[in-house]
Amino acid sequence: MPEKQQSIHGIWRNRWTFIFAATGSAVGLGNIWKFPYIAGENGGGAFVLVYLACILAIGVPIMIAEILLGRHGQYSPITSMRRIAAQSNHSKAWVLLGWFGALAGFLILSYYSVVAGWALAYIPKLGFGEMSQVTPDVAKKIFEDLLANPLTLVGWHTVFILLTAMVVARGVNKGLEKAVTILMPMLFLLLVILLGYSMMSGNFQDGLDFLFTFDFNKLTWDSVLEAMGHAFFTLSLGMGAIMAYGAYMPKNISIINTSLTIAFFDTLVAIIAGLVIFPIVFANGLEPGEGPGLMFVSLPIAFGHMGFGAFFGVLFFILVTFAAWSSAISLIEPSVAWAVERFNTTRFKATFFVALLAWVLGLGSVLSFNHWENMSILDGRNIFATLDFLTTNIMLPLGGLLIALFVGWVLQEQITRKELSPKIMQIYQLWRWFLRLVAPVAVLIILTVGLLEAFPEQKIAFTRFILDVFPSLKGD
Ligand code: PHE
Repeated sequence: MPEKQQSIHGIWRNRWTFIFAATGSAVGLGNIWKFPYIAGENGGGAFVLVYLACILAIGVPIMIAEILLGRHGQYSPITSMRRIAAQSNHSKAWVLLGWFGALAGFLILSYYSVVAGWALAYIPKLGFGEMSQVTPDVAKKIFEDLLANPLTLVGWHTVFILLTAMVVARGVNKGLEKAVTILMPMLFLLLVILLGYSMMSGNFQDGLDFLFTFDFNKLTWDSVLEAMGHAFFTLSLGMGAIMAYGAYMPKNISIINTSLTIAFFDTLVAIIAGLVIFPIVFANGLEPGEGPGLMFVSLPIAFGHMGFGAFFGVLFFILVTFAAWSSAISLIEPSVAWAVERFNTTRFKATFFVALLAWVLGLGSVLSFNHWENMSILDGRNIFATLDFLTTNIMLPLGGLLIALFVGWVLQEQITRKELSPKIMQIYQLWRWFLRLVAPVAVLIILTVGLLEAFPEQKIAFTRFILDVFPSLKGD
């Protein structure tokens, strides 16, 4: 059978457009908003080290597997998994991996868009000087007022979903490719400008110390789970985004090299974002462990007191919007590509249908910051926090685990060899070893222990169960 050269959705023009698109997916709110605040909450350095280890030992091997699977499948993750399983006589159940991923992407998009909406809302706030010379109390109040107002939040959430849909509706080449080739270089430029600003006006040394001084006393299993979940989230792994992008990748591009490049850029942006935010925050006598408000409270206070703060503040929130935008298109792409294949409909209709659904679900997250704030869905978490916890800490690692098992143990080795066409055999072997053993074992341990720590009551029941089954473990 002659090999099909091109996916029905289009194909990236060259290696760099793929790298831009995948890096655009990876670099997002995760790097600029989430990474600094979870690093702050988990004490900085030690957390950063665990996170970096997760990127290298778990993230990169799984990213290679995911791209490989996409390029071999050539369709949306759901259709690809169905075809690959059928062709090689594997269980049909593997298609669930595609479904699970599309669902995760959809759930993430619903709340991602709400947070991206905050960033949009801050552009005019800073631009029109609302935050100039603000005191901490006032800055806090401005953020709280924004969150307290569902209509404003819905408005910005709508704008962001529309921006996303606008790109995806135009297709791989006219939409995605075009957007990322403009957004990504601008993003890097803005980041470098802001880094220069932070170096000159911020407390740079303290920022460096905070991110790179390893204090292991601050590390708990909970934070290890957080670090691993975040590694998946920030690399866009475990839900098919990177698989979908892989389906549009020309056959002659090296998957291993591009994966390393993407992981490198993603990590670089997270670290630089930390080095932009923390020195500015420290220079103004503020605290790093602010939680989700770090970027929206501490940072604007800092900008409000610095020379040209309004200008650089606006640049910063434009940067955040761009980063979120190029990620959101990859969150929705797997579902849209699937809908196009399944219903034989236009991309335009498919996009708007999926976007509408995500928009509606997003209303639950909007209300989580005001009317439904105290609603408890999962162990005291409201809708927003539940979606974030479920997707980041459970669904993505689980999806990644299944991908690792499928590519590492189920898929014929012939296929992986053909897709990767390794030049250096040792590197290929190393990858396989990490994919088959290191990544799955690490994910399983961290997931189990992390979840038990996160849910103490269940932990007691689980320990009792284990002791009932293995009474010899009692040890006395
Ligand atoms: N990687 C994106 C970020 O860091 C989020 C994302 C997750 C995008 C999963 C696509 C898929 O913000």
